[in-house]
Amino acid sequence: MTRLNSHSFKAIAVLLLLGLAACSAPEEASENSVDSKVSYNTSIDVKELMALVLEPASDILWDSGGWVVDASGYEELYPTTDDGWAYVRAQAAIVVEAGNMLALPGRSEDNDAWQIYSEGLSSAGILAMEAAAAQNKEDFFQAGAQLYSVCTACHQAYNPDINSRFVDEEAD
Ligand code: HEC
Repeated sequence: MTRLNSHSFKAIAVLLLLGLAACSAPEEASENSVDSKVSYNTSIDVKELMALVLEPASDILWDSGGWVVDASGYEELYPTTDDGWAYVRAQAAIVVEAGNMLALPGRSEDNDAWQIYSEGLSSAGILAMEAAAAQNKEDFFQAGAQLYSVCTACHQAYNPDINSRFVDEEAD
């Protein structure tokens, strides 16, 4: 199933601008990277995958790192128990796998930048998993920052409206 909507056209326009359009036909992509006999259920589209799988897991990671200062004083957000760290490590695993889910034929917008951002998501998730396993706050915070930069980079390339929505939400 090929989804062609305004987002796809925007993505194509961006790729043309970047000179990345060569060799990005989805048909070619499935030949070398995916066995054509294998079928994936991609009826959850990219938008739903974002809202239902990736964003909830990422929000838990971001809400579990750093510090806040409020009326009651200075509060650390990091997990304080083994179970707490195990829980955020599991959320990071969801982020790792979300990278793979986005790269699947049926979801992937192309075989170039999209794949790189998808891999970047998985890499940031692995860093967060490792930091959570080691209960290393500094590394966990850095992994969260890296994750955020992957989200915004992909949105900038494929759906810039999303980034302005993020900024709007943060301003509220
Ligand atoms: C590989 C590219 C890519 C990456 C990486 C990515 N996104 Fe997205 N995201 C998209 C695209 C494309 C859309 C627009 C989908 C649509 O509207 O069809 C989107 C839409 C969204 C939306 C709006 C969903 C809705 O209901 O309208 C949210 C929220 C979101 N992304 C969160 C995230 C977060 C959080 C991350 C990082 C942890 C992330 N995304 C990483 C491509 C990406």
